[in-house]
Amino acid sequence: MSIVKAKGLDHVAIAVRDLDKAIAIYRDALGLPLAEIEEVPDQKVRTAIFGHGLGRIELICPTANDTGVAKFLDKRGEGLHHICIEVEDLDAALAELKARGAPLIDETPKVGAGGARIAFIHPRGTAGVLTELRQGSLR
Ligand code: CO
Repeated sequence: MSIVKAKGLDHVAIAVRDLDKAIAIYRDALGLPLAEIEEVPDQKVRTAIFGHGLGRIELICPTANDTGVAKFLDKRGEGLHHICIEVEDLDAALAELKARGAPLIDETPKVGAGGARIAFIHPRGTAGVLTELRQGSLR
């Protein structure tokens, strides 16, 4: 049993080539509430976030060709980019994962959107899906 207490699915992130076109489907066709559109210059992406609290959907679209998301799109096409699990204690979660040999992309947390502390686990350790862990500050 794990000492890590996950709160649940924070968000899923979907890589798209055309943000406006994707928004038209998710907001206008499916009727999901668009919470915000955010430009993240650090990561060279624009994001559109649907919903509030746990279970949000985030569309991510690169604004430059030399980014991780742009490379992902070239290689794999549009689709699921990562999932994010909210945890109570990110340091404890990373220690637990490390002890179990999970390949961590971020051994120490970094600051993500909304000021939350985040860290990524390599898809090799999570059945093929890039996984973000997040502690704190829901939008
Ligand atoms: Co994310």
